[in-house]
Amino acid sequence: MRRSALMLSSAGLLSALGFMLAVGAWRSGDLPWQQEAGSVTGIRAADLGSMSSQLTSHEGERIGPQDWVGRPNLVFFGFTWCPDVCPMTLLNISDWLEGLGQDAERLGIYLFTVDPERDTPEVLADYLSNFAPRISGLTGSPYEVDQAAEAFDVSYRQVPRQDGDYTVDHTAGVFVFGPNGRLSSIIDLHDDPQFAVPKIRRAMEQEGS
Ligand code: NI
Repeated sequence: MRRSALMLSSAGLLSALGFMLAVGAWRSGDLPWQQEAGSVTGIRAADLGSMSSQLTSHEGERIGPQDWVGRPNLVFFGFTWCPDVCPMTLLNISDWLEGLGQDAERLGIYLFTVDPERDTPEVLADYLSNFAPRISGLTGSPYEVDQAAEAFDVSYRQVPRQDGDYTVDHTAGVFVFGPNGRLSSIIDLHDDPQFAVPKIRRAMEQEGS
């Protein structure tokens, strides 16, 4: 029952994305903030080992990037209400994990929310259950989320919608860290997908700290 419901929702999401691509609703040119990842410079100096953020995982644990040194990691920012870029990123990551095969088990994968008001640990857990099971969600107080975003040189801001609700514009792209905690590369949404897995493999081959 649960399995078929899950498959149904994944299929629904995929067809919705396919539809958006087909009708040209996928206008990432309208989302300038979401194209920043390829051009950010501060992130180049990012070092997980020198960070001091503490957030709450979707499983309720208090963790931070400094705890992840010693193995390769993927880090990205987003939120569960994101209509397009985040679900697309999560589906891409599922593909990459498949491409990595057994090696994927060595990877840490972390989604930091940019919407701490709505993304509680429970909401993150529920959302992530639709994607690769190995992705961890992180949330915290608005201050904690702010500090984490700053450490990764990520920008985000709430944008009111006409219906009174809000969405969040945010830096997109997946940061790839080697086991030494240093940034190895960024996988941009617009990159050719065939380069994603080699980028991750390259990070995995870096020496540990
Ligand atoms: Ni998003």
